[in-house]
Amino acid sequence: MWSITLDQKLHLAPIGSNPQNVLDIATGTGIWAIDFANLTFELDDAEDEWLFPQKFDYIHGRTLATCFKSPLSVFRKAFEALAPGGWFEMQDMCLQRSDDGSMDGSSLKEWQEHVQAATAFTGVPWTNVPHYAHWFTEAGFESVTEVTFRWPSNQWSRNRKEKLLGAWTQAQIDNGMLESVSTRLFMMKLGWSQQKLDEFLAKVNADTKDPNIHAYSPVTVVYGRKPRSS
Ligand SMILES: C[S@@+](CC[C@H](N)C(=O)[O-])C[C@H]1O[C@@H](n2cnc3c(N)ncnc32)[C@H](O)[C@@H]1O
Repeated sequence: MWSITLDQKLHLAPIGSNPQNVLDIATGTGIWAIDFANLTFELDDAEDEWLFPQKFDYIHGRTLATCFKSPLSVFRKAFEALAPGGWFEMQDMCLQRSDDGSMDGSSLKEWQEHVQAATAFTGVPWTNVPHYAHWFTEAGFESVTEVTFRWPSNQWSRNRKEKLLGAWTQAQIDNGMLESVSTRLFMMKLGWSQQKLDEFLAKVNADTKDPNIHAYSPVTVVYGRKPRSS
């Protein structure tokens, strides 16, 4: 979905054709990093002190909206770890919304509200992404640029690329995305029973397939440069 969204590009920051030292924070399976470079993996908590001996030309993080208790402190670490003139980029997505009120009163909207409450309860609220650009500036980055996209809940969009992304969203839902996001949050943090959750998710699933509900996940890419003089 990221490849489709970014037209097969791995980054939007203008990093030139030959960056030497690059860091992918919280790389997961490494799928982005493996596409980007020959690489080595390091196992660390990005919220701990960064001990890299070298400075980086580019630092990247993707789909990390609920990973950090303080994204701003991670952004400050990225700033420190970059060489002057180096670029930092975050690519992330938010909970779904609609612009025309078509989500109102739906189980899908209720699900988003519960996920928001439960992630806030765990100390990593899924509401940080709209603050990224501001936090980049606060951390000291310049030329901060924010680019937004939409991942529709199904194929309701008339835009060809968004229609394709909606089909991929449905493929994720059909492969258990709602359950994987919800089970721990709803049962352990909100105290729901398995039966209550299953019945609720069946209604949420139906709403995600309703072409009259124009829900989408806002997707945001933010990048900024460490000043050359710093
Ligand atoms: C949703 S995955 C995204 C993986 C990858 N960035 C991608 O786009 O394919 C989030 C990853 O962040 C890792 N993670 C979460 N908190 C972290 C932290 N504080 N430090 C380092 N990694 C973390 C998780 O283990 C998981 O692999």
